Amino acid sequence: MDLHGQNILVTGASQGIGAAIARYLLEQGARVGLHYNRNKEAALKLLEGFESQGVPLQANLEAPEEVARLWDTAVTALGHIDTVVLNAGVFLSHLPSQTPEAWWETWKTTLAINLDAPGLLTHRAILHFRAQGGGRLIYIGSRAAFRGETDAYLAYAASKGGLTSLARSVARSFGKENITAMVVAPGFTRTAMAEAFIAEHGEQRVLDEIALNTLTRPEDVAPLIGFMCSGQMDHATGTVVDVNAGSYMH
Ligand SMILES: NC(=O)c1ccc[n+]([C@@H]2O[C@H](COP(=O)([O-])OP(=O)(O)OC[C@H]3O[C@@H](n4cnc5c(N)ncnc54)[C@H](OP(=O)(O)O)[C@@H]3O)[C@@H](O)[C@H]2O)c1
Repeated sequence: MDLHGQNILVTGASQGIGAAIARYLLEQGARVGLHYNRNKEAALKLLEGFESQGVPLQANLEAPEEVARLWDTAVTALGHIDTVVLNAGVFLSHLPSQTPEAWWETWKTTLAINLDAPGLLTHRAILHFRAQGGGRLIYIGSRAAFRGETDAYLAYAASKGGLTSLARSVARSFGKENITAMVVAPGFTRTAMAEAFIAEHGEQRVLDEIALNTLTRPEDVAPLIGFMCSGQMDHATGTVVDVNAGSYMH
């Protein structure tokens, strides 16, 4: 896949699925804005050998003003943006047995990072894409939006449901302006986010939920995003692609 000439912003590119996506896009020749929050060292390491193609961009997406600053610095650094990959996210536990205050704090943090920040970036991207005649938004959703989550992750599932509806509405509303939107919905994927759950519940529980015999790795998700960025999937705008090792068939 040739992604030379494509300028792409990837949020949460310092580790996990976002890092695999950013690496894949760089390898295919794209110019990439690598967003990170706390993990600067990892973002810089990923860029080793790709210094002329990539630029690290820091922002805490919980703060709306930092989201706006991220967009502005990304446009300045890349010149223009063809595709935004909205990948950064958190998977925070909040059982109903917590105090109402603690439960609500986790709800707000989750929604701020997983839905408010993508919403703000979507708005900025639409204005930018309008001015340049088009662009793509790729949202990293979750299986949780479709099959629900367990009792400790209600905010997470709600945030991913919102993200999915946002993507479909962008696809529906702005297609005539050459703006496309798609969702990639992973199931369990071997990253820091999933390891915490596996450590608590055991790997067998996760394997029991899928048709394949190994857990999905970030590298199993990344090429699909490259294909979407290439423009060869534009007529699938509004779609959700499940990458969940056959969870629904099992
Ligand atoms: N892993 C799974 O099983 C799974 C399943 C379905 C969907 N997903 C989705 O896939 C996406 C990536 O997940 P992952 O497993 O790769 O997660 P991960 O390994 O925990 O990485 C999360 C990324 O998001 C960034 N991030 C977290 N909080 C942030 C904040 N406040 N501001 C800015 N950036 C922040 C992190 O940046 P720093 O490290 O630099 O702080 C990191 O780059 C998420 O949207 C997740 O919901 C994952």
